[in-house]
Amino acid sequence: MNSIKKLEKLPPKRDKVETVEILRQLSKSSRVLGELKGIAKTIPNQAMLINAVVLQEAKDSSEIENIITTQDELYKALATKGKQPLQVKEVINYRRAIFTGFELIKKQGFLRIKDIETIQKTIVENNAGIRAMAGTVLKNDKTGEIVYTPPQEKDEILNLLSNLLEHFNINQTDLSPLINLAVLHYQFESIHPFYDGNGRTGRILNILYLIINELLDIPILYLSSYINENKSDYYRLLNQVNNTGKWDEYILYMLKAVEETSQKTIEKINNIKEQLSKTIVFVQEKEPKIYRKELIELLFEQPYSKIEFVVDRLKVERKAASRYLKRLEGIGILKSERIGRETIYVNKELIEILKH
Ligand SMILES: Nc1ncnc2c1ncn2[C@@H]1O[C@H](COP(=O)(O)OP(=O)(O)OP(=O)(O)O)[C@@H](O)[C@H]1O
Ligand SMILES: [Mg+2]
Repeated sequence: MNSIKKLEKLPPKRDKVETVEILRQLSKSSRVLGELKGIAKTIPNQAMLINAVVLQEAKDSSEIENIITTQDELYKALATKGKQPLQVKEVINYRRAIFTGFELIKKQGFLRIKDIETIQKTIVENNAGIRAMAGTVLKNDKTGEIVYTPPQEKDEILNLLSNLLEHFNINQTDLSPLINLAVLHYQFESIHPFYDGNGRTGRILNILYLIINELLDIPILYLSSYINENKSDYYRLLNQVNNTGKWDEYILYMLKAVEETSQKTIEKINNIKEQLSKTIVFVQEKEPKIYRKELIELLFEQPYSKIEFVVDRLKVERKAASRYLKRLEGIGILKSERIGRETIYVNKELIEILKH
């Protein structure tokens, strides 16, 4: 039997979360994250970068919940109207939830409990809200054994969430913001305020926290791919904090996740930048008459593009827009695909970069 231990309020004792090994890893993680923040600024078109990275994250994060979709399906869904399969819809919802959260913190600079509810609601598309009925327990996926019982009373949940937000919006302790990130993530998952979507909501809170604390300016760092690849450790370490109050291994795990995913994101940004400049030079050379910087940037913002997008962006007639896209296909920059009654133009090389 798993005895029910009360979840403690933040902050934890400093010596529990700041070992020598953690501080050593912290300096590596902070350095790479700082580099990522700097490199992101050098991308000329921020919307392009955000779109690409956020969609990939929506896909990765949903996969933790076993919602498997292909990149192709997702871009198609974004470029076309009409009914989407449930799996695709869930990923698109997650993407929307990231943007909703980002807009909220841009506007107000902090989060409230009701904002967290808004984010979760966008993901799960129901109005259940914060748990009001007892009975939620966390089980081991394989054995079905109960591994953790989160707080059951709504009042306690709300109390713990207020306490969490005090540390989320302003770093009250003198803990380094990245150590605090790990602590906050554990705490949110352990409060487990919702019936469902706690993992996905918590992963969105991570990026919002980084932005509130000015470690990043735009939502481009996600730990989901790392968590996916190291899932059993992730669950094991959350459990370890629950059961023993030992934080160090879990904090190290999260700091490594920050280091590794920052590194990967830097590489991706460099690849996108390189591909963008290559494309610009190529089009200028092969189709100088249709070359427009905004046209090329559009193809990077919307790797699945269509006539309508070009009309909107460049303020040209449909005929001209169609001719641009066909010419670009002619020189191999795009590839057209019929989807239902629409023709979509795919920036294949970019899609390849975004996949990895
Ligand atoms: N022992 C534990 N202690 C605290 N939190 C845990 C523990 N085990 C799992 N969790 C958290 O619970 C989350 C799953 O909760 P829930 O099913 O509500 O979220 P989800 O978004 O639907 O799922 P997923 O995170 O799998 O995508 C995990 O992602 C993890 O963060
Ligand atoms: Mg779930």
